[in-house]
Amino acid sequence: MVFTLAHLSDPHLAPLPAPRWSELIGKRVTGYINWQRRRRFIHDPAVLAKIVADLRAQAPGTIAVTGDLSNIALPEEFVRGRAWLASLGAPPDVTVIPGNHDAYVRAAAAEPERCWGDFMRGDDGTRGFPFVRRRGPLALIGLSSAVPTAPFMATGRLGEAQLARLAETLVALAPENVFRVVLIHHPPVSQASRHKRLTDAVQFLRVIGTHGAELVLHGHDHLHMLNWLDGPNETSVPAVGVPSASAAWGMSKDAAAYNLYAIDGVPGAWTCEMTSRGVGAAGTVMQQRRLKLFG
Ligand SMILES: [Fe+2]
Repeated sequence: MVFTLAHLSDPHLAPLPAPRWSELIGKRVTGYINWQRRRRFIHDPAVLAKIVADLRAQAPGTIAVTGDLSNIALPEEFVRGRAWLASLGAPPDVTVIPGNHDAYVRAAAAEPERCWGDFMRGDDGTRGFPFVRRRGPLALIGLSSAVPTAPFMATGRLGEAQLARLAETLVALAPENVFRVVLIHHPPVSQASRHKRLTDAVQFLRVIGTHGAELVLHGHDHLHMLNWLDGPNETSVPAVGVPSASAAWGMSKDAAAYNLYAIDGVPGAWTCEMTSRGVGAAGTVMQQRRLKLFG
């Protein structure tokens, strides 16, 4: 039976709550100025509401969100983030991982777990990353590349310990007849500036190249992206990125969209068809692209 996974990312929930003066510390200052000057014109809550309504109407089997619910990681943004996640579905049906904006300042480090914990918990109750959730034929593997960085930097890092656990997880899942979907905020392959990249992308690509996965999903660059990564035994692993789910048409290179994956089959003979749905010039959500990734 075909199982459907929906992927959306980077909603950057708007409007930004009014920060207290005491909260405008460190990187939040430049982030706040950036929001007021530019980003508030891009991330439109009405656009996001249309994306969410369209996604819900598709009734996917499960939903994955690859981070950046917040903008400058204010405490109120995490509370609103939880309400937004709940508007997508119940914690077992919605899986989230944090993005760099959700780790904007060190002071917010505990907020994703505190507010969104039950949306990013493994089936075995695991806290932290990677965690694994099995849904239909899928094993969703949640990673965190979200680390606080200096102003004007948006790099990500998995770190040696998480990469080692990812390798162990992929090895453990390999014989279990599951379709392994790796969720990571930062793209493993990107044309973006060095200030925005995953700093240990080479090590991540090595883990995928050695142990394999069926699909890698990411956000961060706010673009439709598809890169084929090298897997083991001459296989290829698609790494797919989606635009920001709130990007108004004409205000960003790629307007708001999300992807649906229809997955069927068995190991070695998976079928996976991707459908992109997004907002057009008229402001309505429509199908934009359909692509067979496998089968
Ligand atoms: Fe983002």
